Amino acid sequence: MNYKKLITELINNPLVTENDITLATEGHGDFALPCFKYARELRKAPQVIASDFASNLSERDFIDHVEVAGGYLNFYLSRKARVEAVLADCADKTSIKAVRAENAGKTVCIDYSSINIAKPFHIGHLMSTAIGGSLYRIFKYLGWNAVGINHLGDWGTQFGKLLAAYNEWGDKSRPLTLNDMLALYVRFTEESEKNPELAERGRTEFLKIERGEPEAVKTYELFKETTLAEVNKVYDRLGIKFDSYNGEAFYNDKMEPIIDELNAKALTEVSDGALVVKLDEFGMPPCLITRSDGATLYATRDLAAANYRADTYRFDKSLYVVATQQNLHFKQVFKVLELMGREWAKDLTHVQFGMVSYEGKPLSTRHGHVVFLADVIQNTVDKAKAIIEEKNPVLEDKDEIAENVGVGAVMFFALGTGRIKDVDFAYDKVLSFEGETAPYLQYTHARCRSVLAKGGDIGEVDCSLLTDDDSYAVIRHLDSYADTVRDSASKYEPSVIARYLIDLAQLYNRFYISGRIITEDKKLTFARLALTKAVADTLKEGMALLLINAPEKM
Ligand code: ARG
Repeated sequence: MNYKKLITELINNPLVTENDITLATEGHGDFALPCFKYARELRKAPQVIASDFASNLSERDFIDHVEVAGGYLNFYLSRKARVEAVLADCADKTSIKAVRAENAGKTVCIDYSSINIAKPFHIGHLMSTAIGGSLYRIFKYLGWNAVGINHLGDWGTQFGKLLAAYNEWGDKSRPLTLNDMLALYVRFTEESEKNPELAERGRTEFLKIERGEPEAVKTYELFKETTLAEVNKVYDRLGIKFDSYNGEAFYNDKMEPIIDELNAKALTEVSDGALVVKLDEFGMPPCLITRSDGATLYATRDLAAANYRADTYRFDKSLYVVATQQNLHFKQVFKVLELMGREWAKDLTHVQFGMVSYEGKPLSTRHGHVVFLADVIQNTVDKAKAIIEEKNPVLEDKDEIAENVGVGAVMFFALGTGRIKDVDFAYDKVLSFEGETAPYLQYTHARCRSVLAKGGDIGEVDCSLLTDDDSYAVIRHLDSYADTVRDSASKYEPSVIARYLIDLAQLYNRFYISGRIITEDKKLTFARLALTKAVADTLKEGMALLLINAPEKM
């Protein structure tokens, strides 16, 4: 319910807008209007203004009473009416539907995960995959048309090297794996240092791919398919989806018009043989467009990609979920697009995130400390299985539940903290049933479901039975669900939902231990079951936005 709006209407004074109404501090009702800022204009003390507003309030059936305290006008809502409104809203989703109606017809492009072909899919990719995958679900949930894009790193001279290595040493008698490709690449790097002829062969093989020679292209496609087949297994497990896998190679024939336009608009300069857009006046180093040998760069491809997305999807927003390290790259690309006169450049956002370490150790692909994402997921699921065996050995479908708990734990790890913070992955932490974790949310949800199963059908609910402090605290929190999801979308922060769900679970657990739910008193039972159902449904829906499944039993 949008009480801020209702209260503003009630006050009915042109000076007072919705944003002036705040949530009341503990013990001062539900909402408050601080009246200090009107003192100048109205030439009255804030306290007097608050009492004037109070005595002029119109119809007030959703308000129990108001109170003037200092310069504040405090609103105490009628708890019963609010309980009624919140339970109805949870059942028919009126507030979420209203948000969806506002967003109908809007499109957001989300570039996420964006892995590199023939490179390991390691835990460093978790953040982009999880944050982007979650934002994709959040925007869709809020009525947007979301386009998930995996901007594959599938172009570059390394593919020539890999091709040369594969031709030389590859075992063609059995299917290629991602690990084979890594090994071949490492071997090529080592041997080509001693053998210049080999290095040369890497360059010629790349030229063959560039020229589209069938044999070379076939093997290059094999590298791509092999990588995607392995990576897709992880995506499937995590519930991650894409609408497009157009990667860097897709833009090979789409850069020339961009380069021509940059030249025509006199934005480029030649510097040491390279073509660049100088950005000194914006405090940035030049953006490289082509190297002295004419080769295009990562930035050139992103310029083409941004234009392609604008033309193809006509987006309202276009997001890039990429680590903070690429901050400068995106600033440069966005600036160049602005200089080209693209009015949609303002709709591009780099959604950044911090670094991941693993069990206290920093990750470095170069120094061989590679932790594969698939292994982390499998280990977490195995450990979840062991915990379940210990806690609840008679549970049915243990494997499926362990899968949900393990994957959920990894997802909450990635999404539970503000994006920008560095985070450390530790099995004990992510699998704790008591901390701020997915298992805690899943356990609370399963607890609700088990109460509901025991309680049976819910008869007519008397909302006045849910106005005590513990029940009402849950109701108040449920009331801010739609706003919270909207807020998380506007900040590109799944952690806002994570925080909300942890608070909801904590408030529910406080309610749960404060009194029995199923008792002789039928009316009280119905009311408490109705609250339990609203919490269970909200937890489940919110967790889905964080790519966390909510098993019925645990
Ligand atoms: N493949 C790149 C990397 O791993 C990330 C690509 C991000 N997306 C983009 N449009 N540049 O660093």
